[in-house]
Amino acid sequence: MNIKVFSHDEALVIYLTDLFFEVISQDNRVNIGLATGSTFIDVYQSIIERSIKNHQSFQHLYTFNLDEYVDIDENHPQTFKSFMKHHLFNGIDLPDNQTHFPPTGSNIDYACYDELIEREEGIDVQFLGIGTNGHIGFNEPGTAFDSKTHKITLDESTREDNNKFFSSIDEVPKYAVTMGIHTIMQSKRIILVARGLHKAEAVYNMLYGDICEDNPASILREHPNCLVLLDKDAAKLVKRSCKDET
Ligand code: F6R
Repeated sequence: MNIKVFSHDEALVIYLTDLFFEVISQDNRVNIGLATGSTFIDVYQSIIERSIKNHQSFQHLYTFNLDEYVDIDENHPQTFKSFMKHHLFNGIDLPDNQTHFPPTGSNIDYACYDELIEREEGIDVQFLGIGTNGHIGFNEPGTAFDSKTHKITLDESTREDNNKFFSSIDEVPKYAVTMGIHTIMQSKRIILVARGLHKAEAVYNMLYGDICEDNPASILREHPNCLVLLDKDAAKLVKRSCKDET
């Protein structure tokens, strides 16, 4: 696991934007796993701005989002599909049929999402945020490390954290479908981003806590190619010897 700490937000956003374009500017198709949430909003905005400036083509890009709420009107502005359209997809020239989300219907084997990802030869780069409780995707503490895409009940703390996107806590969905931890770990490369003091404890547990299912992000320490990008607040509890500071 490599850890990079940024003292300025702007440098973190530029680093991520550079990385994104480096990955998608190859000649071959590239499959990228995407996250929603506040961590990535200005990163997506920066990708849009760079793509306009450089007349960037996205013909090789295929995206696979980590998760989607269940029991929410599909036109609700806070579905993750709406979030992605609003913050990224509507601003770049990416065909609709190259974007993918976990299925949310009832009577569905959600693991068909894993089969689709496998058929498409896997995720090349998976972007991740981290929950204040250590979740990755919406794999809440206690989720099996060998889980495939599945429906989960959101922790109350996750619903409270995401209340900022809704007008009241009652509106925040109670369930979601998320890529499983096994699915995430199959990605060839993982880039986890954490920003803000409220993430410092989750980052500390990820890096130094027991590797166990109650501490979902800890499993990333077993991934062969995982980069962690932190702002200085999220890195507050990271040991000096571990961090490469920019
Ligand atoms: C969202 C997702 C979550 C978020 C995490 C952090 O697709 O999978 O794991 O990345 O909850 O959310 P923010 O960025 O809002 O702090």
